[in-house]
Amino acid sequence: TIPYDVVRAWPKVSLHCHLLGSVHAATVADLARKHGETLPYGRSAADLYEIEAYEDLGAFLATYDVVGSLVRDVEDVHRITYESLTTYGSEHGVLYREIFVSPHPVGVPYAVLLDGMRAAMADARADAGIDSRIVVALHRERSASEAEALVDAVVEHRIDEVVGVGLDYAEVNGPPGLFADAFVHAGRAGLERTAHSESGPPRHIEVILDDLGCSRIDHGYHVVTDPRIVQRCLDEGVTFTCTPVSSDIGRYSGSGDGRHERIAAMHAAGLRITIDSDDPPMFGTDPTRDHAVISTALGLTTTDLARISLDAVAATWLDETDRT
Ligand code: ADE
Ligand code: ZN
Repeated sequence: TIPYDVVRAWPKVSLHCHLLGSVHAATVADLARKHGETLPYGRSAADLYEIEAYEDLGAFLATYDVVGSLVRDVEDVHRITYESLTTYGSEHGVLYREIFVSPHPVGVPYAVLLDGMRAAMADARADAGIDSRIVVALHRERSASEAEALVDAVVEHRIDEVVGVGLDYAEVNGPPGLFADAFVHAGRAGLERTAHSESGPPRHIEVILDDLGCSRIDHGYHVVTDPRIVQRCLDEGVTFTCTPVSSDIGRYSGSGDGRHERIAAMHAAGLRITIDSDDPPMFGTDPTRDHAVISTALGLTTTDLARISLDAVAATWLDETDRT
């Protein structure tokens, strides 16, 4: 096994970590206090992120929404972005991150969200050397017209930092095909595209590639149940952003016992995978832990890990010239 301190220092690229899923519990408690609110279900900072309380994805997302609702001004946005980029980024060797942000649950308008994020990203770059961009996630449990309205806002407030759009929340309540128009619109505006597919059937992967025009897939573990789609993804060089620790909890990446059979099968088939931590404090993880867990489960050597890291670099949405 690769020593933990080597994994920690390993230069990383982060393509699948959510802003609202990477807020310290203590910060959430501070925001609640600042805005005169209490945490839900009588929780405190100490038990806000009890993984046992995530009975299913819906229960997890309810907590994620609470975090979003407590972000109410530009200083709050700055604080959570800066803390996320340092604590779950630069401190774990992350050199570059594409930050997923879900604007729908956040308590500030999209333009304010962008202002706070952009300032914090510049500060984190200056202070900690981490470079970053933004991927705006459309909410698949809301309507297709709300998704289109958000794409309109992204286009209207276009800044260089925003490189693409994604699709998050519960796949069971929002199959990808519903969002084809929003994604096509985003594509026409020059935005890159990715979509979550963690629990859905392999057919969703085809819809995501064909109808949504995505170049990456978030999770996508069920690809391994369909050899034809595996072959297609090999041919097209599709990258799957895997999140071992968070996905083991829902048994999406394997049987839920840390063996990650599906990620192992993806890697063995030669598919491009990247490693990330999704919602680190909420699932008790961080980028080092996710890299260590998958290295141990798959018996990776440093050569294997280097392959994965280079695939992550290739899958970023940076211009060729910025990819140094
Ligand atoms: N938002 C944050 N984390 C998510 C996940 N794992 N699945 C869907 N939506 C999410
Ligand atoms: Zn995710």
